[in-house]
Amino acid sequence: MNSTRTGSTRYTPDAVPAPGPSAARMTIPAPTDPAASARAQHPSSRPVPAILSARTLTKTYGSTTALSGLTLDIRAGESVAIMGTSGSGKTTLLHCLAGIVLPDSGRITLNTAAGSTRIDSLNESGRSRLRRESFGFVFQQGLLIPELTALENVAIALMLNGLDRTTAEQASAGWLQSLGLAGMEQRRIGELSGGQAQRVAIARAQVTGAGVIFADEPTGALDSATSAEVMQVLLDSTTGASKTLVVVTHDDTVASRCARVVSLQDGRLVGDSAGGAR
Ligand SMILES: Nc1ncnc2c1ncn2[C@@H]1O[C@H](COP(=O)(O)OP(=O)(O)OP(=O)(O)O)[C@@H](O)[C@H]1O
Ligand SMILES: [Mg+2]
Repeated sequence: MNSTRTGSTRYTPDAVPAPGPSAARMTIPAPTDPAASARAQHPSSRPVPAILSARTLTKTYGSTTALSGLTLDIRAGESVAIMGTSGSGKTTLLHCLAGIVLPDSGRITLNTAAGSTRIDSLNESGRSRLRRESFGFVFQQGLLIPELTALENVAIALMLNGLDRTTAEQASAGWLQSLGLAGMEQRRIGELSGGQAQRVAIARAQVTGAGVIFADEPTGALDSATSAEVMQVLLDSTTGASKTLVVVTHDDTVASRCARVVSLQDGRLVGDSAGGAR
């Protein structure tokens, strides 16, 4: 393992993060640029450091090139939409950034207050721990466990990090309530609408206090009104709380809600609203 990470997040009852903002707030304000606000708070106007830094990533599957020398910095507190045609490498990029798959070459560094971690140098157990403790995930279908209740689906993320069931369920109930799901805690996933199930997935991604949330087409299975609501909940609870959101989407409306849009083609970055194509 070649990690310079110096700290680790252990969840104790005192450390359970407070639930996010109220989901009752469903009006859709214009997206703000968290990086710009962060810069405004630092008179020295030093650039906001990258929380995730990817350098010349390549990834091939057999004869298919999924990533081809891709370089990208994601700043703390920013919301980044990753767009591109089917097969352009969006999911592969997200999986590499999140330590789900390893690139064939290139570097991925996570920079937090606890130190810098070379994600591409971690072994499977190191990456698994990083995913559990530092990252949250929301996928198109939520990947929720149908046999468990909404509450249990959220609490399991904390229990995997060592928290006892009672404390985990208390924290999870707070998150469900804050995301507009009060009274639905004991429902199984099949008893929820698509939008409600995605809120459970968002609560599960957030309950550990992860600083970076990755979402792969989180609204892909939703109608446009529900999609807007879920995106609002996702933004409120991430960048609205100074967390970082990386969201893969095919939906222009979803992308337009993010502070920054990057475009991929054939595994390369071909557009970046924050600084042009590389
Ligand atoms: N596990 C895998 N095995 C083989 N090929 C893969 C694998 N994962 C991805 N690929 C290939 O790599 C390329 C990029 O795939 P990726 O899933 O990153 O695309 P994407 O941009 O997310 O597409 P979509 O919008 O359809 O989800 C594609 O050609 C895909 O077929
Ligand atoms: Mg994909």
